[in-house]
Amino acid sequence: MLSLDLPKWYDLHTHFRQGPSMAAYIKAHLEMGCAGVIAMPNTKPPVSLISGPGNERAWSIEHYMEMVRQAGGDAFQCLIVPLYLTKDTSPSLIDEGSASGLLRACKYYPPHGTTNSEHGVPMSKWIGSAVFKRLEETETVLCIHGEQHGLPGESYLGSKTSAEAQFYREFMPRLLDAHPDLRIVCEHVTSKEAVAFVQSAGERVAATVTPQHLLYTLGHLIQGLRYHLYCLPIVKFEEDRLALREAVTAKGQRQFFAGTDSAPHTSKATECGCAAGCYVGGCAPQLYAMAFEASGVDLASDTGRGAFQRFLCDNGPSFYGLQTRDERFLLERAPGKSRILETEEGRIVPLPVGMDLALSWRISI
Ligand code: DOR
Ligand code: ZN
Repeated sequence: MLSLDLPKWYDLHTHFRQGPSMAAYIKAHLEMGCAGVIAMPNTKPPVSLISGPGNERAWSIEHYMEMVRQAGGDAFQCLIVPLYLTKDTSPSLIDEGSASGLLRACKYYPPHGTTNSEHGVPMSKWIGSAVFKRLEETETVLCIHGEQHGLPGESYLGSKTSAEAQFYREFMPRLLDAHPDLRIVCEHVTSKEAVAFVQSAGERVAATVTPQHLLYTLGHLIQGLRYHLYCLPIVKFEEDRLALREAVTAKGQRQFFAGTDSAPHTSKATECGCAAGCYVGGCAPQLYAMAFEASGVDLASDTGRGAFQRFLCDNGPSFYGLQTRDERFLLERAPGKSRILETEEGRIVPLPVGMDLALSWRISI
């Protein structure tokens, strides 16, 4: 049986939410060999302060990190919570965060563009701002959900354009020009345009890639309206999947790394639409291994293994300057299972359930 002995990895983009189910989400991450996480701040209320108890409008990084730790996250070797950029984010808040050591990253959300993103401020307002200048000076990473918000349906997604492609075309070159020292992570890139931007931007720009965007296309989502695959940015077309597959498997690449965007939702389909977010707790390394194999990588070879380890385990910590992990886990090529997570708040259906695809790898810790 083919088996990969890997250092424990970091999921550099995930959602643990809040409330009684947090512990189940954290446990599922620990059980898939995850040594650390970036837990995103789009909670309710958002994590938009640095320290202190917070209030009903805003939580602090300090407070939310304590919630994650108490729900089992103290087992992680590393925990980062980015600051949600809102209209109240000030240069002095960035200074306070940097001086305290609590602030490692900020998160840009397109206003009303995705789950709990209503506190976001448009990118046009940030470019050239004093807040972004302080990010540069304090070497705080900017994590970007790169999609143009507020587009009418016909421009939101088409065969030649998407909200993501438009954002990368219109804002990212301007952002790089205005802030030459800013370190940026383009989160969950999905399109060939975003991939090309990252590759052309040089080493101060990196990107996370999810398992679902490497495995599936829009056709997979539409065929049967498999809404558990509905996330934002939405899965794209075959040429986009190909660009992502080439980018993550490219020899010696250092810019692309694992960030699952695992996003639990207890009610996906609602009266007024569908909640955006795919859940991959418990099965992300298996899905990534399947995606590498589907991209033509031979994981039994040294080069294949090396490329996989770079993407899953090495590039992300190296970009963020995180300590290396001392523990290891095994990824074995054998039929595995994706378990539906029963939580106090409801059932969470992980990928690839219902997707005509069985896990062909399993984890042993
Ligand atoms: O699909 C998504 N789900 N995309 C996001 O940007 C947010 C996430 C969530 O929090 O559910
Ligand atoms: Zn996310």
